[in-house]
Amino acid sequence: MDVIICANEDEAGRYTAAKIAQVARWVGPKVVIGVATGSSPLRAYAVLADLVAQGKLDLSEASAFALDEYVGLPEGHPESYKDTIRRTVTEPLGLDPARVHVPNGFAADLQQAALDYEAAIKAAGGVDIQILGVGSNGHIGFNEPTSSLASRTRIKTLTHQTRLDNQRFFNSLDEVPYHCLTQGLGTILDARHVALVASGEHKAKAVKAIVEGPVTSMWPGSVLQMHEHATVIVDEAAASQLELADYYKAMYANLPDWQRVTL
Ligand code: GLP
Repeated sequence: MDVIICANEDEAGRYTAAKIAQVARWVGPKVVIGVATGSSPLRAYAVLADLVAQGKLDLSEASAFALDEYVGLPEGHPESYKDTIRRTVTEPLGLDPARVHVPNGFAADLQQAALDYEAAIKAAGGVDIQILGVGSNGHIGFNEPTSSLASRTRIKTLTHQTRLDNQRFFNSLDEVPYHCLTQGLGTILDARHVALVASGEHKAKAVKAIVEGPVTSMWPGSVLQMHEHATVIVDEAAASQLELADYYKAMYANLPDWQRVTL
């Protein structure tokens, strides 16, 4: 696991965008990007949108797969992840909407929708780079504590903490759905690269647990310790509980040029 400690949220977003752009250039125009909702990746999306606008990156033939979707919202709800991804990813990054996929949380048969989603990822050749945020309880996607480390896309119940954390997007807690469809931890582990970005003091405990704690379903993001190419990108506040922070900083400061990720 590479741990990159950035001075602030802005630098973390720039580093994350650079990592995504690097993989996109390695893979070529048909790169498959795993995208996440939440505030954590927004700066990275803004930097990528700039690269696209300047003609330095072309994602018009890329595909994207979102991690998750609420179950229980009416289709077209502005806080559905289908709408959120369109607003924050598809349009600014110039993706072809036909190649942007979000689990169908509106389906009458949710179990079939979950199977279909796994099949669609497979048919696209798998995810080249997966962007992740992390919940304050360590969830990635919507894989809440005690999720199977081998889980695939399925229906999950949100914890009270997650519903409280996401209440800010709704008028009241009552409006926050109780259920979701989410890629499983096993699904996420299948991505060829993963980049988790976190900023702020409120993420410090989760970052500590997933980077330096034991691999445990109580902190679902800790499963990334089993991934061969996982990068955790944090600002100083989110890194504040890391025991080996000085080591990660020294490692980054002394990277040979060929290993550096730059825009
Ligand atoms: C939601 C999403 C996650 C996201 C998390 C953190 O629960 N399902 O994918 O990582 O929120 O959100 P934020 O980045 O806004 O803190």
